Amino acid sequence: MNKKWWKEAVAYQVYPRSFNDSNNDGIGDLQGVIEKLDYIEALGIDIIWLSPMYQSPNDDNGYDISDYQAIMSEFGTMDDFDQLLEGIHQRGMKLILDLVVNHTSDEHPWFIESKSNKNNPKRDWYIWQDPKEDGSEPNNWESIFNGSTWEYDAQTEQYYFHLFSKKQPDLNWSNPDVREAIYKMMNWWFEKGIDGFRVDAITHIKKTFEAGDLPVPEGKTYAPAFDVDMNQPGIQTWLQEMKDKSLSKYDIMTVGEANGVTPNNAEAWVGDEKGKFNMIFQFEHLGLWNTGDVQFDVRAYKAVLNAWQNNLDDIGWNALFIENHDQPRRVSTWGDDKNFWYESATSHALVYFLQKGTPFIYQGQEIGMTNYPFKNIETFNDVAVVNEYNIVKDQHGDVNALLEKHKMENRDNSRTPMQWDDSSFAGFSKHEPWFPVNPNYRKINVAAQQQNPNSILNFYKSMIQVKKTHDILTYGSFTLVDEENERVFAYLREFNDERMLIVGNLTDQTATLNLPETFIFSSNCVLLHNYNDRIIHVNELRPYEAFIVTL
Ligand code: GLC
Ligand code: CA
Repeated sequence: MNKKWWKEAVAYQVYPRSFNDSNNDGIGDLQGVIEKLDYIEALGIDIIWLSPMYQSPNDDNGYDISDYQAIMSEFGTMDDFDQLLEGIHQRGMKLILDLVVNHTSDEHPWFIESKSNKNNPKRDWYIWQDPKEDGSEPNNWESIFNGSTWEYDAQTEQYYFHLFSKKQPDLNWSNPDVREAIYKMMNWWFEKGIDGFRVDAITHIKKTFEAGDLPVPEGKTYAPAFDVDMNQPGIQTWLQEMKDKSLSKYDIMTVGEANGVTPNNAEAWVGDEKGKFNMIFQFEHLGLWNTGDVQFDVRAYKAVLNAWQNNLDDIGWNALFIENHDQPRRVSTWGDDKNFWYESATSHALVYFLQKGTPFIYQGQEIGMTNYPFKNIETFNDVAVVNEYNIVKDQHGDVNALLEKHKMENRDNSRTPMQWDDSSFAGFSKHEPWFPVNPNYRKINVAAQQQNPNSILNFYKSMIQVKKTHDILTYGSFTLVDEENERVFAYLREFNDERMLIVGNLTDQTATLNLPETFIFSSNCVLLHNYNDRIIHVNELRPYEAFIVTL
């Protein structure tokens, strides 16, 4: 057992634009985060992951960086940042930043130079290619944010590649000067005292352009290109170099955003020996629900997470999460925010949080914030939807049909302002915010839940305390219990001769849990339970009933 501080930690993600607005201009900012550090500390958090706060024209809310070593003016100054870092450290917490190096903004000086002239020394810092003979794009790959991955530059008569928006040109990682510049920038932040990075879109830095045109699915203009732009052969060489020249020199932690990594190829990413990062965010468990009548698939969810738990056991470490700034609110999609709001939020919480790994909480998740009730497509801010909207509009398609498609799963659902209290704009700001506040803020807010011992917030607090005061929940093994059960996610954690059972009914039905005869417990072994009476009948678990007991 290899003990590490980041294995024992609980992390909290702050999306600064929507967290807290200190100067009442409607946009969250760094002083706003500083104002809430006591709140975060009181929740029991050890690590704060701050989404991008760098200088950016904000095409993708800060994930398009025009200066890696400056602060977005809307968010404050470098002095504010230093104060934030100090405030976090004073409270015994750590700060990890978002490292966005698959691409920069098209307004980054590197790109401006690169674009200026074919002979510019930085031309090769980005990916430029000639048009096909008929003048069209070099290949037919589709951007993750819709449309082509190529944008034409009339002045130099070439296309540049952008996997995300056209204002996010991809850096050319095969150029060693680019890599050196990135490591230098990373080390600058480490020297400043930050404690690590969440590494954005890192599985995409290598592309297999040799693949050329790909098959276009019916009804589409461009071809999805994940098979050739995600986790490609050779990527580990660059990551190893990043580890050697930067990461391994500091006592920091890293979590890679790793779409496309599977439990079978995860060792190269997070293995104790071979890994380049301490943990990764994998995505396999996120697509398991349906906006229609089909319920969240409990067995599929178990199968995915079980594979990650088992495959990384003794090899590496998991990052545990169910929400972030790109995902909808889980209580609305996996749970039931109408009939079992409290029960489903807490049951889903307990189930993911106490597995083996470092748990992450996304702002607002701890109070059961819900999806936004979108009424028209124009409300969306997400650049991916805006692009799709423009494409459909150009083709004279039905733009209103996009509303149905996006209202449940869209990224904007999680980007509504944090709900602090029941004053206007939810206490986030005194000014109309950049994105609408969810109208349910009078019911769902931090202040109300702080008063209520049986709130989601206080459940999270207790759960974090239980996790942090029992080593077994950090270092103990993980084994699924009653694996075939279609409604209940149950597992055992074991450490030396201790045993704990974690159970969550993830449906709105009653459920029967089949336990081995040796699993004996009484009501005073219950550490946490989301039904107040603390009475447990495993033969008849109530909707979304969840608990942890020592055996
Ligand atoms: C990651 C981020 C997402 C961003 C994208 C491009 O997926 O989480 O918010 O849009 O990378 O940087
Ligand atoms: Ca502000």
